[in-house]
Amino acid sequence: MEKEDLAKVTIYRFDPTKDDKPRYEVFENLPYEAMRVTDILNYIFQNIDSTLAYRYSCRTGLCDACLMKVNGKVEVACKKLAEKEMLLEPVDKFVILKDLVVDFSLTRKRTEPKEER
Ligand code: FES
Repeated sequence: MEKEDLAKVTIYRFDPTKDDKPRYEVFENLPYEAMRVTDILNYIFQNIDSTLAYRYSCRTGLCDACLMKVNGKVEVACKKLAEKEMLLEPVDKFVILKDLVVDFSLTRKRTEPKEER
């Protein structure tokens, strides 16, 4: 594969149980043609760094488990086509559990049906 056909992905890394502060890690020479953002994360996890934390579930754009910022914009990562150069970060305003995984539990609780009286 030619070098110009490969992607560079910069990923926010932070493990609050170990790290004093967040950092950014760069992964280069990644395949990306016809891949979704979650496909690239799977590639990194399976081939380069199995400590990378990210989340997805339905892979159809329905559950929002994979929400993250791609180049500064909130995207559904399982639907978003990968680009040649990407910055991947957790969504704002949520507690970061690790890397790209945030705690959505407060929003999920708010949408649960109320108990009937
Ligand atoms: S994994 Fe469910 S919306 Fe992306």
